[in-house]
Amino acid sequence: MATLPAIPQRYTGPAIAFHWIIAALIACNLILIWTVDSFPKDWERPAIDLHKSIGITVLLLALMRLIWRQTHTPPPLPTSYPKIERTGAHAAHILLYVIMIGLPFTGWMHDSAFKLAAQHPLKLYGIVPWFRIPAIQNLPQPEKEHWHAVFFQWHGALAYALYVLFVLHVAGALKHQLWDRKPELQRMLP
Ligand code: HEM
Repeated sequence: MATLPAIPQRYTGPAIAFHWIIAALIACNLILIWTVDSFPKDWERPAIDLHKSIGITVLLLALMRLIWRQTHTPPPLPTSYPKIERTGAHAAHILLYVIMIGLPFTGWMHDSAFKLAAQHPLKLYGIVPWFRIPAIQNLPQPEKEHWHAVFFQWHGALAYALYVLFVLHVAGALKHQLWDRKPELQRMLP
């Protein structure tokens, strides 16, 4: 009698690589921006430039991850988890995608409205020339200053949303791992 193929219990290599590389880059970017005020004055500008480079990298990786995800279904959560937890985990994952893209995108919008943009061209890691968003960069000066402040507020608000979601995401994983004693972390480990 033919046996049915087993339902995968773990994420695949590319999914695991996307997950941990993006998580590590976001952590670096947060640490950089939290500590930038304590850097010597002449390190501040290079630190913010590095923040922008890492952020654009996250944006590109998150878009690639989203596209890749459309054709690669993740392993389902065990049906032994209550429905509310499975729905909650799914909702958190969707919101994490929104933030992985929205957070760096609003940073890029903020930077595109920078009034000294012409004197500070964007160069990823000091090597790869990158562009500002033309529709924002070409706004008239007073409008640009207004949007520069607004986009910064959006950028900061999404960072707070990320902190909340991160806590929920980790708490959910730890609950399944430690309380329910399921191999939850192993699903996302190489
Ligand atoms: C992983 C993606 C990113 C994360 C997690 C992140 C996070 C943050 C946070 C938490 C702040 C402080 C907000 C506040 O004080 O309210 C900030 C500031 C800032 N971000 Fe980002 N950001 C990311 C991507 C980007 C990108 C792609 C750009 C531009 C290309 C950018 C440009 C900036 C700038 C210019 C500031 C203000 C720095 C200063 O003058 O002190 N960010 N970011």
